[in-house]
Amino acid sequence: MPPEAAVAAEPSAQQPSAPILQVDNIHTAYGKSRILFGVSLDVQPGEIVALMGRNGVGKSTTFRSIMGLTPPTSGRIVFQGQDITNAPPNRINRMGLGWVPEDRRIFPELTVWENLDVASTHGGDKAWDLARVTKLFPDLEPLMGRTGGYLSGGQQQMLTIARTLMSGPQLLLLDEPSEGLAPLVVRSVFDQVKALREQGLSIVLAEQNLEFVLDLADRVYILEKGEVRFEGTTDDVRSDKALRKRYLTV
Ligand SMILES: Nc1ncnc2c1ncn2[C@@H]1O[C@H](COP(=O)(O)OP(=O)(O)OP(=O)(O)O)[C@@H](O)[C@H]1O
Ligand SMILES: [Mg+2]
Repeated sequence: MPPEAAVAAEPSAQQPSAPILQVDNIHTAYGKSRILFGVSLDVQPGEIVALMGRNGVGKSTTFRSIMGLTPPTSGRIVFQGQDITNAPPNRINRMGLGWVPEDRRIFPELTVWENLDVASTHGGDKAWDLARVTKLFPDLEPLMGRTGGYLSGGQQQMLTIARTLMSGPQLLLLDEPSEGLAPLVVRSVFDQVKALREQGLSIVLAEQNLEFVLDLADRVYILEKGEVRFEGTTDDVRSDKALRKRYLTV
């Protein structure tokens, strides 16, 4: 354990529940290029956990490992009690893990409605139907007929999240949702993430925007060079200027 790691979580009167996601000591490489060196993290049901760290530290690779897109070479990933370490991505998605990639991959030629409709095929009875998604994101409603490629950055981000919800996830991996967006738009993405939590979703949020994280997350993991260097509460990060300076862009 790194010296900065928090000793223990706040003592709680309640019995701790089983984590919804457990990442245990994963090592991940792209070919010969080794990227993650023993990353471990866990997420409790209903929690928002932030995965922080500067560019290139391995945040997206951690998500790719969890989703089975770049499976780890060693270590274990358990989702809702089931080992998913070497499961194919489509199965992992159907089990209830949703991934919102950082590059906002929507279909630019399809309308907003078509983008959502295409994504609803895997959901089965868990699927968030269109009505539920538009209730959560009412700003999407008037855009349903608009071509994806003509949406603003913030609208595309909203559509990317909404599309992932169509597969009915219990846990969402959100990769840098605020990146490249104007402050006002970041605020609305923030409100969307809050609304998701209120729906009972568990969220892992890869972010470099410290304000966004401090107001939203319960706990924080900080990566550097593919290793977890800090694990603690949001308050720990808020009160530790040296830590922020060392590992984050501030
Ligand atoms: N497909 C790939 N093939 C080879 N190397 C890769 C690939 N994708 C990422 N990398 C490398 O892996 C390292 C970690 O990248 P990763 O995308 O996980 O970082 P990140 O923390 O998400 O960074 P950012 O904040 O810039 O999104 C980087 O050095 C990157 O160049
Ligand atoms: Mg990334």
